[in-house]
Parts: sequence; structure tokens; C-alpha cells
Amino acid sequence: MAAGAFDRAAGAAQGASAGASNGVIAGGPAAGAYALACERLAQAPRRWLVTGVAGFIGSHLLETLLNLGQEVRGLDNFMTGHRHNLEQVRASVGEQAWRRFTFIEGDIRDPQACARACGAGAGMAGSAGMAGAGGVAGADIAGIGAAHAARHASRAAGASDGGSEPPDGRAVPDGSGAGDGVAVDYVLHQAALGSVSRSLEDPLLCHAVNVSGFLNMLAAARDAGVRRFVYAASSATYGDHPDLPKVEQHIGAPLSPYALSKYVNELYAQVYARCYAMQTVGLRYFNVFGPRQDPLGAYAAVIPRWIAAMLDNEAVHIHGDGATSRDFCFVHNAVQANLLAATGTDPAAVNQVYNVAVNARTSLTQLHATMQQMLLAARPQHVPQAPQYGEFRAGDVRHSQADIAKAARLLGYAPTHDLAQGLRHTIAWYAAQADGA
Ligand SMILES: NC(=O)c1ccc[n+]([C@@H]2O[C@H](COP(=O)([O-])OP(=O)(O)OC[C@H]3O[C@@H](n4cnc5c(N)ncnc54)[C@H](O)[C@@H]3O)[C@@H](O)[C@H]2O)c1
Repeated sequence: MAAGAFDRAAGAAQGASAGASNGVIAGGPAAGAYALACERLAQAPRRWLVTGVAGFIGSHLLETLLNLGQEVRGLDNFMTGHRHNLEQVRASVGEQAWRRFTFIEGDIRDPQACARACGAGAGMAGSAGMAGAGGVAGADIAGIGAAHAARHASRAAGASDGGSEPPDGRAVPDGSGAGDGVAVDYVLHQAALGSVSRSLEDPLLCHAVNVSGFLNMLAAARDAGVRRFVYAASSATYGDHPDLPKVEQHIGAPLSPYALSKYVNELYAQVYARCYAMQTVGLRYFNVFGPRQDPLGAYAAVIPRWIAAMLDNEAVHIHGDGATSRDFCFVHNAVQANLLAATGTDPAAVNQVYNVAVNARTSLTQLHATMQQMLLAARPQHVPQAPQYGEFRAGDVRHSQADIAKAARLLGYAPTHDLAQGLRHTIAWYAAQADGA
């Protein structure tokens, strides 16, 4: 059952987290590289920055990292994210873990906000979670940049990154805080405007956030000397390339400003790796879904939008003939990919982009039928409705399916949830929300 699989994956992370305090790794069936990465992190916690932390994927990254005993900074301007996502993480991880989180309300279009978030004076120690919202202390930004430029120089000269044991011994003792103005070890950059339709309506805003904002973050991460910069890329980058499954090196022409913006991210990351010896990893997510994904608004993703409609016993609208297909990826798989990308020690794995999905393809009509069945099983009072088919949506890719062999080979990525497992868990979560649980 899906909830069981979810619990096991969560248990692997939480078991590893428990291992930080008692030396015993409870572990779990999220075997292999991911279990090992969780275990290492729990034993030697690091400092992380998650941008877009109040959003869907960002809030899951935050939850897993806090469960693993990590120090986490979060940056968000609530453009599409929500304070209630952070509150749910807080309720889930508990107050003790929550104290290891510092929130910075800021915009990635503001280079100063990016610099502070990466380490120039964010002041992780002693700031009690949301109490720090918007209240960011000033700091000696130039000094920090200089200190970390030295680390870059030594990396460029061939020094080892240190893998799980940092050469500069900046591992954070559990619960100790990280000290004012200390740079983060890893950036997980999620903040962006994520909708193809929105980008078609406002390409300038898409560029400002997804391209200029991305460059601000990359520059700030470089100046702070972060160990690795992992960023949310997108399957949209495959554009009109017809091959299935999608293999990383074969991309087509972009079909939307959003797709272009995500491809430009990859190019900037490559240039920063080449010119400044930065370590970057791009994760091309394919239709990520799960709890806390926003079901509301014109730009909502298909699964939360449909669950919300079904819970209201409303008919679902399908863009096109229903044969459009996607490789739907449960959010825990995306979290796994981020942690592996940040902490992996194989030099060949760095400065690459990876597909993050399951390597399965489901049509929208199949998805609809599966969701109806699951909802009926979970809530006998549900009244199934036939879907309503409409116009195709501009900018949408027709079919999508990921080849995940590269992520498996170089990162050790092994998805813990297929569509059905993820869907059961997701539907149960939205149903519980609707019931006020
Ligand atoms: N969800 C998917 O299926 C999917 C697929 C491919 C790529 N992605 C990428 O993954 C990332 C996360 O997506 P998500 O689904 O969690 O979306 P989301 O909208 O839930 O999260 C994005 C977060 O970024 C924040 N943000 C937006 N603009 C910002 C700005 N200027 N400054 C600071 N914060 C800002 C939002 O408030 C939000 O909290 C995005 O980069 C998106 O493009 C997502």
C-alpha cells in the first residue's frame, strides 16, 4: 500500500536522523545510495539553503532535511508558495527540529537577498524558525566572499571537495546552530515561476525570476563559496524533441518562455562550472506531484487540480484528447534526487543535468481513471464524473517519459514511489485536508 511505502521512505530518513543522536541507524528499505547519503548526513549535519522553501517541492526538501538533523535556511517571497506549507512542516518535524530552520523572506530578483541567504549575514544561529522571517542581520559580505574565494581557488587547483567529510571541518554539531554569516554548504535552488501558461502570458516576469533570479542565486552561491549548487531544471527543456524516453543529451527547441528559462539555467550553470570552478547539478523534474502542491489558481498542476475537483464532485477538464502523456514523479523521488545530487562523491556526477522521474508514461485519460478508482476506494461517498475534453493548451509537450539511467548510474538514484504509490498517498492527504484533519 502506498502509505506503507511512504512511511518506509520517511522512516529511512527519520531513522537515519535518529542515528545522529544515538549512533544507531534505524535505516529502512530506501536502500543503496540514498540510505547511505541520509546516514552520512545524520552523522555529520550540514548547512543548507533551500530557495522556494514555502513552495511544494521546497517544503518537502525542508521537511526531509530537518528530519535528518540538518541546519536549513529558506528563502521565499510567497509569490506562489504559502506560509501554511511551512507551518505544516513545523507541525510534522516538531519544535526541536524546527529550531534548526531560519526563514528569510526575500526575492531572488534581489541580489542582496540572495547573498544574505547564501551566507552573508543570514545568521542561522539562535534564530527560531519563523521568528526570523524578514529579519536578516547585516554582515561583512565582502569578507565572507573573500574567505570562500580561497576555497574555490584550492578546488580549482585540484583539491578534493572532501565528499562526506569536509576538508575545512565545517560539520555542524546537532542543534548547535551555524554561526552568524556562515556560508551554507549546499544550495537547493527551487524558487522559480513554474507554469508554462504563466510564462506565455508574462514572459518578462518569467525571465526576471527564472533567469535573472537564477543568475543572482548562482552568483551569490559562488561568492559564498558553497560546496555545491543543485537547481530545479525541467523536462520542458526537451521541447519538441520527438524521442521517447527522453535522454539528457538530446533536447529540442523550447516550446515556451518557461522551457527556455530552464534551459538558460543549465547553460549558466555550465558556464559557472567552467569559469569559476563551481560545482553544479541540474535536476530536470518531470511532473512532480504530492501533498502540499497548490490545487488552486489558473496555473495549478494537473494532479492537485483534479483531486480538488473530484473531492468537490466536479467534472475534470482535460486539455486535448486525453492521450497526452507524462512521467509523473512523486515528490519523495525528487527529494531523493536532490540529496544525492548535493552529497554525491563521484566527480563524474558533478556539473551534469539529470532526469528525475520514474521512467513510466501515463496518459491523462489513464490518470483520470486511476484517480477516480482510488478516490472511490478511499471515499465511498465519491460520485465519479466523466472527464470533459477541451482544447489543447499552447506550449504543452505532447508526450513525456524520462530515461533515468544516468541518474541511477552516477547518483545512485532509485525512485521509491511509482505513480500508484504516490497517488494513493497524495489522494489520502488531500482527502484528509478536505475533511479538516
Ligand atoms: N512541480 C513540478 O512538476 C516541476 C516540474 C519541473 C520543474 N519544476 C521546478 O521545480 C521548482 C519548484 O517547483 P514547485 O512545483 O515546488 O513550485 P512552487 O510554486 O510550489 O514553488 C516555487 C516557490 O518559489 C517561490 N518563488 C517564486 N518566485 C520567487 C522569487 N522571485 N523569490 C523568492 N521565491 C520565489 C514561490 O513563492 C514558491 O514558494 C521550480 O523551479 C519549478 O520550475 C517543478
